[in-house]
Amino acid sequence: MLEYHAIIGLSIGVLLLFRIIWGFMDIRYSKFKDFTFSFYELKEYMLNIFGEKKEYISHNPASSWAVVFIIVLALLAVITGMLTYGTKEGMGIFSSLNNTMFKKMELFEEMHEFFANSLLVVIGAHIAGVVIDKIVHKTKTIESMIDGKKDIDSEDLKLTLIQNVFAFIWIASTIIFLVYLLSNKQNILLADNNQRVDYQKEHPLFYDECKSCHTLYPPYLLPKNSWEIIMSDLENHFGDDASLDKEDALSIKDYLLKHSAENSTKESAYTIVKSIKDADTIEITKTSYWKKRHTELQDEISTNPKVLKASNCKACHVNIEQGLLNDKDIKIPSKG
Ligand code: HEC
Ligand code: HEC
Repeated sequence: MLEYHAIIGLSIGVLLLFRIIWGFMDIRYSKFKDFTFSFYELKEYMLNIFGEKKEYISHNPASSWAVVFIIVLALLAVITGMLTYGTKEGMGIFSSLNNTMFKKMELFEEMHEFFANSLLVVIGAHIAGVVIDKIVHKTKTIESMIDGKKDIDSEDLKLTLIQNVFAFIWIASTIIFLVYLLSNKQNILLADNNQRVDYQKEHPLFYDECKSCHTLYPPYLLPKNSWEIIMSDLENHFGDDASLDKEDALSIKDYLLKHSAENSTKESAYTIVKSIKDADTIEITKTSYWKKRHTELQDEISTNPKVLKASNCKACHVNIEQGLLNDKDIKIPSKG
């Protein structure tokens, strides 16, 4: 679902840009100039939230701050989301950052989560305020958001033609943008820039030998040390004899070392290196990272006739043998 997550996030970004411009247009009540940002008034307002409090025609001090926080946090969530998408997945407008800033992927993701969660808290508080207004103070706040009519003695909101046109363009362009992203996922904002690897062409021997019994594991899924151990004892390879003549084994080993996890900027490579604390792990499926990602899939793996073994990675990761392990390349086969 990550692609859809990104599409929704980007569309929200467009909505936010319009709301910011709208806030600087001369529109009564919704322009930022009509907001109340005084801390003194905010304090008075919050202390009397259930009692008699001053009436505000435009946003009250609490909702003024809520709107600003919502816009800023949502924008930060969109930006850090795009950065995470780029550094971690190698996708979207910041995909090139995967090459240079991949070590920041977790930082961006944590920031993204922090902003998104803070946003939810502010939204919750904002809605709670509206509900208190409605139930305790019996105001028509919600209705006035839709019809622009104020129940207190003041002017109703009327838009000029230009403002109406702007609002129409705002809504229409967000819908067009959303439909565009959904229908064309290879656009600059979403594009997957992970290169397919043709292992058969890059190293025919590795391709032929290491895919004859199981999925061809991309070399970036294990660190150098693990490949050294595996390649030093092919006669006793997990109960099988996978031995090769010396020259061939050396050539494959060189290829594996050259493309090992330490030399890759992929999310899985980076995380596997970090998760292999016991330096002698030679099974991807024994790393804590792999186990964590597949705990809920144990039943699926053993009962699905199209999978049966954990090492049958390609049953679910359809492009793994081309070196692609992105979230959007995962398709669990139906049992039927
Ligand atoms: C004769 C069959 C055979 C050949 C050839 C073979 N393997 Fe394996 N390999 C196995 C078996 C059996 C396992 C245990 C996992 C399983 O049941 O599939 C295994 C497991 C592995 C694992 C651990 C996977 C995990 O569970 O995380 C790695 C890594 C691996 N092989 C790499 C290689 C490489 C690299 C080559 C090529 C040099 C190779 N294998 C060739 C049979 C083979
Ligand atoms: C039954 C299907 C299935 C099999 C078999 C399977 N996986 Fe997965 N794998 C998944 C699913 C689903 C996820 C996503 C889980 C999540 O993110 O919560 C995943 C996640 C991953 C991830 C993390 C990717 C990311 O971007 O978060 C890696 C790496 C991975 N698998 C590698 C492997 C390898 C290597 C094998 C074979 C040794 C394998 N998987 C076997 C279904 C499978």
